[in-house]
Amino acid sequence: MSKISLRNINKKYPNADHCSVQDFNLDIEEGEFIVLVGPSGCGKSTTLRMIAGLEDITEGEFILDGEVVNNVSSKDRDIAMVFQSYALYPHMSVRENIGYGLKLRNYPAQTTKKQVDAISKDLFLTQYLERKPKELSGGQRQRVALGRAMVRTPKLYLMDEPLSNLDAKLRTTTRTEISRMHRAKGAITVYVTHDQVEAMTMADRIVLMSMGEVQQIGSPKELFTNPKNCFVATFIGMPSMNLIEGTYKDGQFSCPAFTILVCDSDRIILDGAGYDGKLIFLGARSSSIRSGKKYEQAFPDSCFETTAKNVEYLGDSVNVFFDAAPMNMFVGTLGTGEREVEIDEKITLVIDNTKLHFFDSETEESIKFNVKAAK
Ligand SMILES: Nc1ncnc2c1ncn2[C@@H]1O[C@H](COP(=O)(O)OP(=O)(O)OP(=O)(O)O)[C@@H](O)[C@H]1O
Ligand SMILES: [Mg+2]
Repeated sequence: MSKISLRNINKKYPNADHCSVQDFNLDIEEGEFIVLVGPSGCGKSTTLRMIAGLEDITEGEFILDGEVVNNVSSKDRDIAMVFQSYALYPHMSVRENIGYGLKLRNYPAQTTKKQVDAISKDLFLTQYLERKPKELSGGQRQRVALGRAMVRTPKLYLMDEPLSNLDAKLRTTTRTEISRMHRAKGAITVYVTHDQVEAMTMADRIVLMSMGEVQQIGSPKELFTNPKNCFVATFIGMPSMNLIEGTYKDGQFSCPAFTILVCDSDRIILDGAGYDGKLIFLGARSSSIRSGKKYEQAFPDSCFETTAKNVEYLGDSVNVFFDAAPMNMFVGTLGTGEREVEIDEKITLVIDNTKLHFFDSETEESIKFNVKAAK
């Protein structure tokens, strides 16, 4: 079992005018599944490649099991890696590709065969074992690359967008399979994706990056319930959290579209922590924006009338986009059984005012409001 520390890691490519990764700090515990997530170009692959030893670390220390290994070559780090481009051996069959790492380590032929058969079954590749990579679809090749990495148990698994070429259904199945294999093997996995659903469903901890900088590190639940800033709040969660600019005053938040009371989970009015009379961003997830008598009764101090501008039918629920002039629209998720909504229809909306988030309108950092007075 291994441990990893990344200390003040910076990466500046030659000729680049700024760092691609800046002051990256992370301690990874034994057996953890870490997901690096963020928009394209934020430095995920660069970070992973530094861990793999495929890219020099400009500044900082990479510590593996107590030793600084910045200068240890990639092949001596005992890692198995799946690349964004799958890089299979073209002249080898699927069976030979998957078994290559075991053969290299002189595993007996019978053991190799058994392990390759087992992993191929898990990854739905059994029927393709005798084919060459060029005779496979992109998604099948991607699964061979995964099989090649996961057939052994190294110190570290490093995976860079390993599911990007799979269709939606296979993506979900393979995601579950990777999580299951990770639990069975117990080796640290660092997994890169730009897909927040993959990050949320697979990670023990998520590292959310933007423009080379870490924005927040925490469990999926921590990032969802306590986003540190507007970037994290809007990146994690589908649909994106609504951010609405308005003024906080005397327990009320007001914007052109509505005025609501601001309460904690016990429905005690919250004090604005020095933000009285100032502009702030109110954050409300679509799941906290509802409609119907039941919600009007439960949250009587946060109802208002508005107009539906667009409706997205999702089966169990509908996303309804509402006019929030003069800003853009905001979105609520209404249960399909609760209310049929037509475009341009006037509707009474209810915001669950006990589940709100607040952000400084200049720094975009999260603000914690205080309890104002006991009941
Ligand atoms: N070899 C290189 N030389 C110079 N700049 C590079 C090099 N490789 C990457 N970069 C730059 O470093 C930044 C981070 O790139 P990186 O590949 O780590 O992003 P990423 O988060 O993996 O993005 P994606 O989701 O698109 O794969 C980008 O601005 C990119 O242009
Ligand atoms: Mg990348």
